[in-house]
Amino acid sequence: PGIALWGGRFSSGPAEAMAALSASTHFDWRLAPYDIAGSRAHARVLHQAGLLTGEELAGMLAALDELAADVQSGAFTPTVADEDVHTALERGLIDRAGPELGGKLRAGRSRNDQVATLFRMWLRDAGKRVAAGTLDVVDALVAQARRHPDAILPGRTHLQHAQPVLLAHHLLAHGQSLLRDVSRLRDWDARTAESPYGSGALAGSSLGLDPEAVAAELGFAASVENSIDGTASRDFAAEFAFVLAMLGVHLSRIAEEVIIWNTAEFGYVTLDDAWATGSSIMPQKKNPDVAELTRGKSGRLIGNLTGLLATLKGMPLAYNRDLQEDKEPVFDSVEQLELLFPAIAGMIGTLTFHTGRLAELAPAGFTLATDIAEWLVRQGVPFRLAHEAAGECVRVAEARGVGLDELTDEELAKISPALTPRVRDVLTVEGSVASRDARGGTAPARVAEQLDRLVARVADH
Ligand code: ARG
Repeated sequence: PGIALWGGRFSSGPAEAMAALSASTHFDWRLAPYDIAGSRAHARVLHQAGLLTGEELAGMLAALDELAADVQSGAFTPTVADEDVHTALERGLIDRAGPELGGKLRAGRSRNDQVATLFRMWLRDAGKRVAAGTLDVVDALVAQARRHPDAILPGRTHLQHAQPVLLAHHLLAHGQSLLRDVSRLRDWDARTAESPYGSGALAGSSLGLDPEAVAAELGFAASVENSIDGTASRDFAAEFAFVLAMLGVHLSRIAEEVIIWNTAEFGYVTLDDAWATGSSIMPQKKNPDVAELTRGKSGRLIGNLTGLLATLKGMPLAYNRDLQEDKEPVFDSVEQLELLFPAIAGMIGTLTFHTGRLAELAPAGFTLATDIAEWLVRQGVPFRLAHEAAGECVRVAEARGVGLDELTDEELAKISPALTPRVRDVLTVEGSVASRDARGGTAPARVAEQLDRLVARVADH
């Protein structure tokens, strides 16, 4: 007789290929500790409802403890005949408590409300690990920002030289997006903190069980409002996959910059040997594989999100077996990020920035032209005219192959009578950076404030 939970109305067991298709223990076994925690809580509400005696409850809890220890030690494992983690653990319970007592636990619950609850529990714990890993990357960015409080970076738009900024300002910009992902995880957690246990297959239970007691025992803020929604919805999984995909995209943008910065043409950074790899044929090579794998895996995280959304899109309420496909993509996104976090944090934290070269390149490409325009505005020139005059300065300097600060007094005066030699005060990279001193700007004092506030928010999490 099959241990299948649904064997009664069947005269034969499933075909081998049916069982193979159906099986999920190779990926849902990681839910086992959560399944056992759910069973403990369920046993207690069965007792409260008068469906287990005190003695039976004690026996059930003892058997569950024994099972938990055997799962932990590896003494109990699923077999090919076990359809999923829930079925396997029920077999394990019956082995330990006997068929009479062990058979009582299934009352008033379904694998549909079980799996929806356990998946939420697993994800909520994973969300905390992902947040911690993200904060490690933020820490590495902050450490580099602290190490380079005054270093200049050629700030870019369209990948073209735009305006000089502080390197620390740029690094902290990446920190801001990562910190938003951490706060997204928090928001998500608050929405996910509702337990579907007690929803049964979809309609709820007739046995007088208290879903709120189960929810509280399992660390949820409440039980779900609607049992159909509790068993059918997976937007908590999709939203989680989105946050991880977004995080992957943010990490990928950092990675892409490291890859560019590390080229001979840019020469901004050198990678530490521990976070680079060589080539099997070209002895001179030192490749930014951490950054490339980060960029590559972000595509995989996006795929996990879109795959899950596609699974959900056509499904009528309530539970459909399609939903068994909800777990692997999300487990995978978590696993990939857990591989990435220490490597990215290590790579960023050990980058050597060539600050001399950065400073040398910062004024290249006439990046101080905006400073001329804004200086003219401070002299009372309307911005449109100031923009035009500054543009002309670029044209003249470019034609003569000199920098903006090398234009003669006569050249300046010819472009605009307002362009007195005093304009050269703003034609240094340091002057330009220091002048952008409103909140959020690149002036050293402002960047120091941004750093302090970011660090305070990290400490808050
Ligand atoms: N293993 C299933 C899942 O992951 C849960 C079992 C529900 N199966 C069922 N036939 N109702 O979604």
